[in-house]
Amino acid sequence: MFGASQGIGRALALEFSREGSSLVLLSRNEKEIESLTAEISSKGTKCFSKRCDITLLDNVMQGLSFAGEILDSIDLVIINSGVGGPNWMQSFSSKQFKETFEVNTFGIAHVLECVIPVMKTQGYGTIAGVTSLADVRGYGGSSSYSASKAAGSILLEAARVELKKDNIRVITIRPGFVKTAMTDKNEFKMPLLMQPDKAARVIRKGIEAGRSIVQFPIPIVMATRLIKFLPNWIYDWAMNLARPKK
Ligand SMILES: NC(=O)c1ccc[n+]([C@@H]2O[C@H](COP(=O)([O-])OP(=O)(O)OC[C@H]3O[C@@H](n4cnc5c(N)ncnc54)[C@H](OP(=O)(O)O)[C@@H]3O)[C@@H](O)[C@H]2O)c1
Repeated sequence: MFGASQGIGRALALEFSREGSSLVLLSRNEKEIESLTAEISSKGTKCFSKRCDITLLDNVMQGLSFAGEILDSIDLVIINSGVGGPNWMQSFSSKQFKETFEVNTFGIAHVLECVIPVMKTQGYGTIAGVTSLADVRGYGGSSSYSASKAAGSILLEAARVELKKDNIRVITIRPGFVKTAMTDKNEFKMPLLMQPDKAARVIRKGIEAGRSIVQFPIPIVMATRLIKFLPNWIYDWAMNLARPKK
């Protein structure tokens, strides 16, 4: 799993360890993944970790080679790595925009490039990429994040369509608000904020149920469907209410 050191990724590692799966945790924060690996291993589940920056193609390749050497096969790859944060137009930063895409979008692209040949050789596999329910429109203040997640969702959808014939399942995971370091920075009210362990349980069940999209919680999924088709004049009015008053 890419992005396992904290938040949803950490909770996912603990959730899958209960299933008896053998795990490889890949993240930049070595201290955190090593301590999580020790915690999971102490319960009798095979777990290994390696430092990996998903923005670097050679790191991703090395991470997957490491997993390939340790495990009999790579059945499931979870691409959870992500960064978020505001990028308002009044102080818009193209550097921040690029950095967000490097992780949230090119991270997925790097993993796809490296893992598709492995899964084709195996004859099967599942790739699950975490995007967001924020992928439906350009949210005010969240230009980089929502654009990067929209690109990630579209990329995963195209991969799903193409890779079906190779017996490779591609799943898009679209969470609503989950309480993590990423959302702790938000100053706005987050409806139906979920704990990471609950989110991880929903994600595992969705993956195991064979869904192509795992999205939750349902009321926010319905709300985002509505938001997607709102006429621009209503959408713009609502977004302007959320704009910083300066
Ligand atoms: N929390 C929410 O409400 C929410 C909602 C929808 C979608 N999501 C998505 O869910 C995923 C997890 O988010 P979270 O809320 O758990 O955030 P988080 O607590 O900030 O965790 C982010 C994870 O991404 C990893 N990461 C960041 N940059 C990386 C890089 N360059 N290379 C490898 N890993 C990197 C981090 O590991 P290292 O720092 O160790 O590398 C960390 O494990 C993200 O994709 C996020 O966009 C979150």
